[in-house]
Amino acid sequence: MITRDGAYVSLWQEMPVYQTQNKPTFTELYDVIIVGGGITGISVGLLLQKSGLKCLILESHNIGFGTTSGTTAHLNTLLDTPYTTIQKNFGRENARLVATAAREAIHLIRYHIEDYRIDCGFEEAAAYLFSQDEKQSRELEDIAIASEEAGLALSYTSSIPVAIPFEKAIRVEGQAKFHPLKYVYALANQYEAAGGTILQYSRVTNTNEDDEIIDVESEAATFKTKRLIYATHIPPTVNLLHLRCSPWRSYAMAVRLEDDHYPEGLCYDMHDPYHYYRTQIIDGTKYLIAGGEDHKTGHEPNTEKCFRQLESHIRQYFKIREVAYQWSSQYFEPADGLPYIGHLPGHSENVYVATGYGGNGMIYSSVAAIVLRDLIVQKESIFADLFSPSRVKPVAGFANFIEHNADVAKQFIGKWFATETLDEMASLAPGEGKVVKYNGEIIAVSKDSDGTLHAVSPTCTHLKCSVAWNLAEQTWDCPCHGARYDAEGNVLTGPASRNLEVIELRTLSRV
Ligand code: FES
Repeated sequence: MITRDGAYVSLWQEMPVYQTQNKPTFTELYDVIIVGGGITGISVGLLLQKSGLKCLILESHNIGFGTTSGTTAHLNTLLDTPYTTIQKNFGRENARLVATAAREAIHLIRYHIEDYRIDCGFEEAAAYLFSQDEKQSRELEDIAIASEEAGLALSYTSSIPVAIPFEKAIRVEGQAKFHPLKYVYALANQYEAAGGTILQYSRVTNTNEDDEIIDVESEAATFKTKRLIYATHIPPTVNLLHLRCSPWRSYAMAVRLEDDHYPEGLCYDMHDPYHYYRTQIIDGTKYLIAGGEDHKTGHEPNTEKCFRQLESHIRQYFKIREVAYQWSSQYFEPADGLPYIGHLPGHSENVYVATGYGGNGMIYSSVAAIVLRDLIVQKESIFADLFSPSRVKPVAGFANFIEHNADVAKQFIGKWFATETLDEMASLAPGEGKVVKYNGEIIAVSKDSDGTLHAVSPTCTHLKCSVAWNLAEQTWDCPCHGARYDAEGNVLTGPASRNLEVIELRTLSRV
């Protein structure tokens, strides 16, 4: 089974680790190095490799370690950011262009599945958005008008595929669903068959863009490339995009039902945060996948509670026989509602990024593949301006922000703390973690299921914010830009590229 950036196992995770075929050449000058082996990195790698460019994908863990195996895999043109908001922020023409991009993404995925005969449970389905009170109904009417203007085929409907009371509902055609990891593995195979190379378990630790040729230092070796793409959710180092994307967590469950009331379409209520439902069949077993209870990363003190709330919500409308899987996952919400895909501001012209997908990572990863392929191969894309990361204006106070946070950095090098005293003071149950003050120092301390205590510096190595314990996923999560670390301080999710400082604990009897 592959590993993921959290303690819970997702519905997609029970796959063997991807076995690479090709070995990297350490002396080669690559045309493109892609950092990140999730659905974005693999999709863009395949398109570029097929265009004749020599690519290397560097992944710090196994393929699909991040959100690709934590998604609920809705393929929709009815996006999380309503077309009302897109029209308001970007105008009607651009809203049509966004819908076109989302449609092209589904076409690309369908084309890959048909062309490569990928067995990934892909099915076309309609999407249903339904209101449950007067205010939501007014909002739904506005969304329906804006979505139609953007080019979506929709109609009002008097029935929805879930037994949830509603006032009004729209049905949108041309959506789909699939098993994301099976799809990504098949693309990775095609990418390698076309001559591309993947290196797993090799974190990128540094890059040097001083010359036209970019040096990419990884745990395995230093590679050289003409172009670099960050497909890592949020780019590492310090970048204005960190202030324009906020990290969020979403919760999901895959449950088996007592009866056969599995919904046929993709369904969404209009609460804030909203709930979403769909069905997937894996190896002959049907699962209802439901999700919601989203919150900003590091802002919820009891993440287990989110699962309980989600489960009781599902139990209101479905007869659950078994909760087969539950997991949470991270996404990055863009400030103005659209992702950032293109040249990474503040870097040399051959450095690109794709991030800020909101809850539509399955769609925007393929949009990113199309846009980046076109920008690199043809030097232009009809979507370039729309998704340009440079639409970000300089943010006032950014330098102060960095300075302020740098002030709270604390070094523990050479210091040690007594395990017994810290244990007694933190008073943790197995699985719990806390940021505590001890002997005048601030320490992030957690206890694993065996009762072993771990202590790390709570200072995030990205821009020095203080991390918070995620009880459900047993991780330290940074509320500022979403970096995540395991209990021992190892980086699970960027933008941090260095581990939390480990604090030495000594058992007094052995001192
Ligand atoms: Fe930026 Fe932690 S992720 S400070």
